[in-house]
Amino acid sequence: MNDYQFEIQRRATKKEKPAFDQLIFGRNFTDHMFVMDYHADKGWHDGRIVPYEPLQIDPSAMVFHYGQSVFEGLKAYLSEDQEVLMFRPYKNMERLNKSNNRLCIPPIDEELAVQALRQLIAVDRDWVPNVEGTSLYIRPFIISTEPYLGVAPSHQYKFIIIMSPVGAYYKEGINPVKIAVQSEYVRAVKGGTGNAKTGGNYAASLKAQEVAEQEGYSQVLWLDGKENKYVEEVGSMNIFFKINGEVVTPELNGSILEGVTRNSVIELIKDWGIPLSERRISIDEIYEAQKNGTLEEAFGTGTAAVISPVGELFWNNEKLTIGGGQTGEIAGKLYETLTGIQKGKVEDKFGWIVKV
Ligand code: COI
Repeated sequence: MNDYQFEIQRRATKKEKPAFDQLIFGRNFTDHMFVMDYHADKGWHDGRIVPYEPLQIDPSAMVFHYGQSVFEGLKAYLSEDQEVLMFRPYKNMERLNKSNNRLCIPPIDEELAVQALRQLIAVDRDWVPNVEGTSLYIRPFIISTEPYLGVAPSHQYKFIIIMSPVGAYYKEGINPVKIAVQSEYVRAVKGGTGNAKTGGNYAASLKAQEVAEQEGYSQVLWLDGKENKYVEEVGSMNIFFKINGEVVTPELNGSILEGVTRNSVIELIKDWGIPLSERRISIDEIYEAQKNGTLEEAFGTGTAAVISPVGELFWNNEKLTIGGGQTGEIAGKLYETLTGIQKGKVEDKFGWIVKV
């Protein structure tokens, strides 16, 4: 491990903390943040931990106009013996660099980023919530800050890490959610930015999400952008189905986000000896399986969503109930195992946990 030591400017007074048993996702932020600058002449420089506060950025900064930005989402947990455990931070920083590459943003040193995170968490350790079902959500992101209105890669950036104590992402908690299949709008196409974690993908998803919510659905299930036929992912998570004893999930095809939770779930399911395949899955196949009784379970996976059972799909003007609208056996076992590993209660035989 390289020994990075960042300057720390502490807040004069600590902020008031929210009640950890009433946390809402993404509304509260810790006392400090990590900031590092990039300039084409200097590379990444001046990494520092500073009080969490508004940024001063030129209105002509390129991020406001052309959206050159990337982000990540990962979590840290308090174990029963009061250690703070990060879940797969290197995997997230690796994906950040993949997104950087797609968005023409200079790569960051992944070890430096994990050390920055470790030191930031140590400074704000008392913000890691200790209530069942809560965690410290970590949001590293990069924005282009050069004041310039030409369309080109920026010469200046900021890499920032902010942190937020969170509860469940969905109001349903770990109970099954209802999801509407989207066939009018598309999220991403092959060759686009669908497999990069960049704000534009989420901006493009809002319209369909708004309509789905008005109709009582939590999220949208996206189909592929070319044939409007194959299942891709859900608004904030990857999707899995269990059909006739086999777990299936859409293969990574360039327009699907390579979820870290998705990858962890695949490893767990394979380890349990349950048949699993990553392949193209048409929405017609899901429809048929529901009709003939072989669609046993559906669940989403994501850092924010964790494991989220899907109890109902809306497709073709029909409400398709899955698994009697209850949490399925695999989703339940995955939730217990994954959160158990994350909180240090279940053996981490894959080496996913990094202690702060
Ligand atoms: C995450 O799961 O960390 C995500 O980035 C989803 C988010 C858009 C809430």
